[in-house]
Amino acid sequence: MILPVILSGGSGSRLWPVSREHYPKQFLNLHRDDLSLLQEATQRVASLSEAGPPIMVCNEEHRFLVAEQLHQTGCRDAQIILEPCGRNTAPALALAALTAKQTDPETALLVMPADHVIKDEAAFLQAVASGLALVNEGKLVTFGIKPHTAHTGYGYIKQGQPLSTGFSVDTFVEKPDAERAAEYLASGDYLWNSGIFLFKAGDYLEALTQFAPDILDACEKACAAGTKDMDFLRIDAHAFSQCRSESIDYAVMEHTRDAAVVPMNPGWSDIGAWDALYDLKAADHLNDGNALHGDVMLHDTRNSLIHSETRLVAAVGVENLIIVETDDAVLVADRRRAQDTKQIVNALKVAG
Ligand code: GDD
Ligand code: MG
Repeated sequence: MILPVILSGGSGSRLWPVSREHYPKQFLNLHRDDLSLLQEATQRVASLSEAGPPIMVCNEEHRFLVAEQLHQTGCRDAQIILEPCGRNTAPALALAALTAKQTDPETALLVMPADHVIKDEAAFLQAVASGLALVNEGKLVTFGIKPHTAHTGYGYIKQGQPLSTGFSVDTFVEKPDAERAAEYLASGDYLWNSGIFLFKAGDYLEALTQFAPDILDACEKACAAGTKDMDFLRIDAHAFSQCRSESIDYAVMEHTRDAAVVPMNPGWSDIGAWDALYDLKAADHLNDGNALHGDVMLHDTRNSLIHSETRLVAAVGVENLIIVETDDAVLVADRRRAQDTKQIVNALKVAG
């Protein structure tokens, strides 16, 4: 059996002003008009015959949003784990694995971030099938994407020996600096880590025992002291707050010798910031390189993303801009500086 685990803890601040702390990007219909990113993630594997009900891991503040969005797509048997605070993905996945282990430690977990887009589901499911063969050999499987830029926000995987399917992982480097990322890209030997993983619950917990026993210990205590509250598994706040904040990439993937990678090309995109959404949408629209949403008028405008929610937005004689209009805020940014939107959100937080 495979249980999808949907990670939904991010706040999506680089997609401000559409993505907000109380309503982050994974709950928005940013890719398809009829489904949010989170709904796309849960639906992605619905056709897998071995797939069981998903485990959602989210902040308790978002519990009704998650429950409501699952309900809308007819998913009524998910387990929803509520984190009292964010401690990054290594602990979030420990909670999921501990929950799954209660039923069967041999259960395979297919970990998917709630905020990614995958255009070619068939190609993705094929990669998952290849990954399953490796999981049965005790591997922690990642899915690798051929890199096309020296992006510093991703993990880089150096492919090793061929295995029954996929490859062993020679080296895993999380978020290298710009110089090393450029070297990796130029070498042609590295793949990006897609952030999607497949492993047995028991194997992940075993890896934590070896590489991050403090995280496992804190999560075991937080689960044991947790409570069942309607459809939710509420993790104990005090115990979980004692846990170190760390991602699975730094805590486990950089250290384990049991990692394997399945290369895939399913039109994957991490919708991290407005420039990524531009890339995704402009590829679909041959509109002078513009990606448009809502009520927009243009004259001599190129290579820009213009998103209007409540008013007509008009642009004249501009290029490479991000313009995002909502009822209470407007963002205008250079497309190449889209990542820096986070600075505005941080400054707004400080200003209260
Ligand atoms: N439940 C929960 N709790 N989810 C979390 C938490 C948390 O504390 N922190 C992050 N997440 C979720 C995010 O919402 C996202 O869906 C996923 O886990 C990954 O977290 P990110 O913060 O987006 O990670 P990243 O993008 O910097 O890096 C990861 O993904 C890259 C690909 O997009 C790494 O795995 C990289 O190696 C990888 O290349
Ligand atoms: Mg991400």
